[in-house]
Amino acid sequence: MVPQQSLHKEEEGKKKTYTEGHRAVTDRNVALEQLRSQSFVSQRTQKRHTGNMLEDIFQSPTSVSLFGVFVALLLLHLLHSTFSSQNRPEPPGPRPLPVFGNLFQVDLKRLDQSLFNLSKKYGPVFQVYFGPKKVVVLAGYRTVKEALVNQADEFGDRDICPLFYDLNQEYGILFSNGDSWKEMRRFALSALRDFGMGRKMSEEIIIEECGYLIKEFEQFEGEAFDNTQAINYATSNVISALMFGKRFEYKDPVFQTMVERDNETIHLMGTASLVIYNMIPWMGPFLKNWTDLMKNMENNKADIRKIIADLKQTLDPETCRCFIDAFLIRKNQLEDLEMKSSHYRDENLLYSVINLFAAGTDTTATTLKWSLLYMVRFPQIQDRVQEELSRVVGSRQVRIEDRKNLPYTDAVIHEIQRLANIVPMALPHATSKDITLQGHLIKEGTTVFPLLTSVLYDESEWESPHSFNPSHFLDDEGKFIRRDAFMPFSAGRRACLGESLAKMELFLFFASLLQHFQFTPPPEVSEDELDLKPVVGLTLAPKPQKLCAVCRL
Ligand code: HEM
Repeated sequence: MVPQQSLHKEEEGKKKTYTEGHRAVTDRNVALEQLRSQSFVSQRTQKRHTGNMLEDIFQSPTSVSLFGVFVALLLLHLLHSTFSSQNRPEPPGPRPLPVFGNLFQVDLKRLDQSLFNLSKKYGPVFQVYFGPKKVVVLAGYRTVKEALVNQADEFGDRDICPLFYDLNQEYGILFSNGDSWKEMRRFALSALRDFGMGRKMSEEIIIEECGYLIKEFEQFEGEAFDNTQAINYATSNVISALMFGKRFEYKDPVFQTMVERDNETIHLMGTASLVIYNMIPWMGPFLKNWTDLMKNMENNKADIRKIIADLKQTLDPETCRCFIDAFLIRKNQLEDLEMKSSHYRDENLLYSVINLFAAGTDTTATTLKWSLLYMVRFPQIQDRVQEELSRVVGSRQVRIEDRKNLPYTDAVIHEIQRLANIVPMALPHATSKDITLQGHLIKEGTTVFPLLTSVLYDESEWESPHSFNPSHFLDDEGKFIRRDAFMPFSAGRRACLGESLAKMELFLFFASLLQHFQFTPPPEVSEDELDLKPVVGLTLAPKPQKLCAVCRL
């Protein structure tokens, strides 16, 4: 039972609270009322003031003329902006449907070809809608160069679509922008140069790897085999040596999984369902390709984190072994200086390594696979390369300095890169401000596709754009010539960071393999039956097919 006294106290307490509460509510209401009436008064006063002001303006002759000038200027401004945006209309393009945009007018399985065809109708700067997303496409050498090189800053941002965000959270190099991107790109270039990218040290690394690849091919003793994995491992090992300071055995299961995962990731990134995902991101968890890709990324991160942790444990600032060491040393130095806003963070290290490993492995390996396939498809060209190699190099190890004496081989490698066109739309760019290109207004933040297919197959630049013709890179005397429209590494601010390493790898691997082997189709297949249609992903790769490597030396 509750005692009577305490009941009273409780009643009194409640009453007190009620009275205080009531007083508080009443006070609030009064205050609100006051505020309302004040604001009503002030509104009325304001109205009266404005009225007075207008009246004053119209009564004073100077004010009337000033007001007139103001209105005239405003009208002029409106007319100017209307006419100037009419002078600079947005790029033309196929009429988009609501919701779907131009999705039904393009083939998502071979987007670059579809866009190339559309450029013939709409011109070198046109726009298409992927669902609600507008993309401006740049076609042809002249236009791509005008944008990416002449207006490098304006066209130099990366378009971070939902997929790229999921993959890298705007860290690293490939899918980042702003100061962080600038610092990471600059650091990666200088660190890779210090480790000999495009110079002697990487030449040694590549030559060593050529030896392992040749041994791998020899094991098949001329029997037909699929060279896909061995070539992937070889190019991966070159980048691993620079990134981690070591190469892996081709049979190492952890290495095999890392490389295979990487190839799958690049393939998945170019699939039609992930193009759709970028338009409707909430669909992600329902798309198998998206969930597979995210799983791949998580596993990838775990593997690279482990490699970084191992290197951290044995880090010695006096002996920098690789890219990761260089990053960690710089990070520690900046931490010692208490530089708080540094970009040298764990996430930037992790994603830069993942980017370089992925970009450095698949692209070079894919080009090498195309090169062997083209050599089998065009045996007379293979014969001429081998004749030149035998004459100039003989059976000794081919080296980078031999390239200047091997113009035909060099021309063949360039023609392989041109025709294979492995990154057909580069990676999507974005405009950093409103910009006019060939009279068309492209607003800030617009996604831009530099259509490399249209540059490498530009009919006004190449004598025979659709056929394999090494003469594209040779003068009348058989000397090697550079061609401006040779742009497989793209151009401008976002141009491939690994170009010099890739060129060195392509030359040394290709020349060494052709020195050692005659490549032929399997006995039951004729050269014409070889399938040259690409498997479409973010890159265009040849279909896996068996070839024979018959020893020559
Ligand atoms: C034959 C081999 C290669 C080809 C054809 C190639 C091609 C390309 C292309 C077309 C781009 C996109 C450029 C753009 O968005 O405009 C790119 C970007 C990039 N590549 Fe390569 N690449 C190759 C090898 C490599 C190698 C070996 C590495 C690493 C050492 C590498 C690292 C990168 C990086 C980090 C980017 C991003 C650059 C940025 O966004 O600032 N690539 N590459």
